[in-house]
Amino acid sequence: MLKILVLVSGGGTNLQAILDSVREGEITDTQIVGVISNNPNAYALERAKTAGVAAQCISPKSFGTRAEFNEKFLEAVDSYQPDLIVLAGFLVVIPPAMIAKYRNQIINIHPSLIPSFCGTGFYGLKVHEAALARGVKVVGATVHFVDEGTDTGPIILQKAVEVQYGDTPEVLQRRVMEQAEWKILPRAIELIAHGKVYVADGKAVVVE
Ligand code: GRF
Repeated sequence: MLKILVLVSGGGTNLQAILDSVREGEITDTQIVGVISNNPNAYALERAKTAGVAAQCISPKSFGTRAEFNEKFLEAVDSYQPDLIVLAGFLVVIPPAMIAKYRNQIINIHPSLIPSFCGTGFYGLKVHEAALARGVKVVGATVHFVDEGTDTGPIILQKAVEVQYGDTPEVLQRRVMEQAEWKILPRAIELIAHGKVYVADGKAVVVE
């Protein structure tokens, strides 16, 4: 049984996709042991509670220094003894000590086809605004392991989505979520739960 901890900051539609996939049997041999948000108002916390999953908020704003937050945050993460940590729209920089401790055990969903439109400053709607500004015809989403860089870790799954004439950033964001993010994030968890993903030579290998 893979024990997963999901970290969130906002609406939690990716969390919902995971909850639904577990309930519907698309993710098997997996237990969601907890949800942590940095934002007390994140609707994701409600989604967790509705699903009967332990949920808590730990905000950097409640601590005097970032180092103090990082220490308490890592303690909270450790308390769940997770096998896999899933960043599902989590907007806080992961403490380096946590990345080292959970090497290749933290995955993130990013709303672009990495290495396009990723790295510092590319989050949320900004990603889709940049894609439309460049006029690309294909966008998508990526699930990757988290390393010390921003969106630089080994790529596990990607899925392409077509841009349509007249798209706004909001419309494109929604299509990328529906057609890519909500599919590949649960799929990556299912693959990891069954030992089908490993990292070799800095790259993720998926054995389907
Ligand atoms: C998603 O687009 C995800 O890729 C990201 O932030 C958004 C989170 O949405 N980086 P939600 O909270 O899962 O609804």
